[in-house]
Amino acid sequence: MEREQQKGQLFGLGVGPGDPELITVKALRLLQAAPVVAYFVAKGKKSNAFGIIENYLKAEQITVPLVYPVTTEKLEPPLCYESIIADFYDTAAAQLSAYLNVGRDVAVICEGDPFFYGSYMYLHDRLGARYVTDVVPGVCSMLGGTAVLGAPLVYRNQSLSVLSGVLPHDELKRRLADADASVIMKLGRNFHKVKNVLDELNLSGRALYVERATMQNQRVVPINDVDPMASPYFSLIVIPGEKWQG
Ligand SMILES: C[S@@+](CC[C@H](N)C(=O)[O-])C[C@H]1O[C@@H](n2cnc3c(N)ncnc32)[C@H](O)[C@@H]1O
Repeated sequence: MEREQQKGQLFGLGVGPGDPELITVKALRLLQAAPVVAYFVAKGKKSNAFGIIENYLKAEQITVPLVYPVTTEKLEPPLCYESIIADFYDTAAAQLSAYLNVGRDVAVICEGDPFFYGSYMYLHDRLGARYVTDVVPGVCSMLGGTAVLGAPLVYRNQSLSVLSGVLPHDELKRRLADADASVIMKLGRNFHKVKNVLDELNLSGRALYVERATMQNQRVVPINDVDPMASPYFSLIVIPGEKWQG
């Protein structure tokens, strides 16, 4: 009788916000032990996560790019972003299953942390019930961004709000008005709206902007100096809590 094939294990590895030295010892060990390394990448672009770890890979490791069919471009009906992207994750999950089913471990690398807005989560949702999984947390961009600003994020009993720049104007304003300290992610085309809300709440003076935190081409500028037309995807805004003199 044929023995049942032992399945491979799926790893979601956080590789940190950009500086290759900010990967954890555990993620690096598992990365280098994985026969298959998969990563998400936008069409025609270089993957940020892959760029962080490529010098750690060995020649014999198989790399599997999972190329998004769409990113943030506007689609005309009947094209629908949600269904295109769901099909893409189904296909990506099937692609990785082919390795897992023959006993090969697969490491999916994720910039920052896998479960903090990371696309790995969609593979985890699809494959987590069928394979043994292990998620290794990473230093997320929010913390990378705060560290390079040299400003504490939350003092003492303050609470932190993590907000998506995609939120509509009024909702963003309501949540920011209530927060002791905030981080706004996913700026890009939302920058203009976010800046208006900060101005309306008189928060622009306290808000700090960071682009490509911890990467070689990192840029930290006062929010009033940011060109809204040139705000890239890898950027965030930090509004630290009011200083508490300990
Ligand atoms: C899809 S989320 C991924 C978040 C990631 N999983 C993490 O743990 O930080 C992408 C958003 O993270 C932020 N981001 C990621 N890396 C960044 C970096 N090095 N510097 C500034 N923002 C970054 C940006 O706001 C970007 O729009």
